[in-house]
Amino acid sequence: MASNGSTNGATNGSAGPKINGDAYPIVDHTFDVVIVGAGGAGLRATVGCSQAGLRTACLSKVFPTRSHTVAAQGGISASLGNMGPDDWRWHMYDTVKGSDWLGDQDAIEYLVRNAPAAVYELEHWGVPFSRTEEGKIYQRPFGGMTTNFGKGTAQRTCAAADRTGHAILHTLYGQAVRNQTNFFIEYFAIDLIMDEEGRCRGVVALEMATGQIHRFRANMTILATGGYGRAYFSATSAHTCTGDGNAMVLRAGLPLEDMEFVQFHPTGIYGSGCLITEGSRGEGGYLTNSEGERFMERYAPSAKDLASRDVVSRSMTMEIRAGRGVGKEGDHIHLHLDHLDPKILHERLPGISESAKIFAGVDVTKEPIPVIPTVHYNMGGVQTNFHGEVVTLKGGNPDTIVPGLMAIGEAACVSVHGANRLGSNSLIDLVVFGRAAGLRCAEIVEPNGKHPDLPKDSADRSLSRLDRVRHASGGTPTSELRDKMQRTMQNNCAVFRTGEVLQEGQGLIKEVWSGQSDIRVTDRSLVWNSDLIETMEFENLILQAVVTMESAANRTESRGAHAREDFPDRDDGQWMKHTLAWVDETSQEVKIDYRPVHTYTMSNDIGYIEPKARVY
Ligand code: FUM
Repeated sequence: MASNGSTNGATNGSAGPKINGDAYPIVDHTFDVVIVGAGGAGLRATVGCSQAGLRTACLSKVFPTRSHTVAAQGGISASLGNMGPDDWRWHMYDTVKGSDWLGDQDAIEYLVRNAPAAVYELEHWGVPFSRTEEGKIYQRPFGGMTTNFGKGTAQRTCAAADRTGHAILHTLYGQAVRNQTNFFIEYFAIDLIMDEEGRCRGVVALEMATGQIHRFRANMTILATGGYGRAYFSATSAHTCTGDGNAMVLRAGLPLEDMEFVQFHPTGIYGSGCLITEGSRGEGGYLTNSEGERFMERYAPSAKDLASRDVVSRSMTMEIRAGRGVGKEGDHIHLHLDHLDPKILHERLPGISESAKIFAGVDVTKEPIPVIPTVHYNMGGVQTNFHGEVVTLKGGNPDTIVPGLMAIGEAACVSVHGANRLGSNSLIDLVVFGRAAGLRCAEIVEPNGKHPDLPKDSADRSLSRLDRVRHASGGTPTSELRDKMQRTMQNNCAVFRTGEVLQEGQGLIKEVWSGQSDIRVTDRSLVWNSDLIETMEFENLILQAVVTMESAANRTESRGAHAREDFPDRDDGQWMKHTLAWVDETSQEVKIDYRPVHTYTMSNDIGYIEPKARVY
């Protein structure tokens, strides 16, 4: 039975420490595994751990079926071959090329080989996929997905109309309920509990409805907290996408990887940022400039509108810069679906037809949709291996496991997406690595295992942070700093970057960071206090914004989504390496180091795919 876990695994706990005169009573819980986040990755891991007989808790700051996976539209990639020949090796080639050779090829092999089984598992669990005439799962073309190592166009993206994430998330939630997961819903995770040996021992969270503090002790903590799109002004991400797990990892003294690689989705609705799925181009939609020209034919002669996202977003930006944007300000592009059969739009793209009407006032059967590249996905995140275990650079070994801690989904950097993710490779990443984490836990976590005593100060870091934010009595409202951060990221760390613009961004974003000490929180309550939660989320975002800007300023080449106008070429000699970035909150400094890309595969079934020029 699923429950809102206040009675589950809990001991009604200690009076809790007093901080600045305030008492913080704590309710203690003990589980084998605690998973933070209930999107596609978190729920898939939750199901796996529960099925393995592990006492599993899943914490989420929103109701699970409101997690951002619900907004994924176009589909989930897997080489099922339902619409023509396909092969996991072709999927692997596309993903490596899409990543601009920054992806780790062992992890990519793991992803694409396990993708078909992961999709069939979802089908058997009840995901209502769209169907072909013969009743097979319907698959549509998506950007950068090819057959025969780049020669043809693949139809590899399995779709449930244009609401694939919604269908998957609801199905996974049903499976988690069926498998007796203990849910802790609307709990905001504050910080990890780390012991002196560097092992993660659990997490401290605030139950937002009551103001109660909870301490979760676990032999494995899995972060599935998603991306940090809201560090930017215009994003397809929900307002909840604040990368809370990434920030917890930074505060625990661990690095984030490849944070300079931020994906802009070519087709966010101009003005609102709402996503119009790439599946719309998969179904035959195309982009035009103010001259009515299908300009993608010039930039990507073979793939055209279905080139990879970084290529399409850059091409759109170049058209706008060249004075060929549409609209009064000439600052966006048109996406045409008006030539498509209305029956297809109704059957395969009903969700975006509705979004275009609501957010752009456009009837897609008659008019083009105004679109603009919009922040959509973070390739960077917590460094992990393909089991989901968090790894870090220690004593010269970049793959040193951090015991007791895993990360999966958009929060993680495995790295299968490298410098640029292909559309529909995100949903498959969630379920393949969510499953992998569950399998690993089944191997290394003992059901009902013993828990050593927690360090005496296990909740102190979280509570001091909570108390400091709650009593913040400076002169600057959080919204003012958040706005400044979002505008700085949007202006200074965008589709195209230069050293000069990034340097200005480094200064501006550090000003925001130091401005944090002057924040004013007006409501002191712990109960349903949006001012408090938004400030904690802002603190999480600003750390990620700072490391993103620093990592981008340091990488003096162009690769995937990181396009430097002053260094326009990819430089494999110097830069075929992953960035690692640490923060020191006290001195407000960022440390950068690098680790090599894995240039080996997992098996002998495919060799290393050698770098070459990336053209579509
Ligand atoms: O365009 C889309 O439907 C988005 C898919 C994705 O980001 O994978």
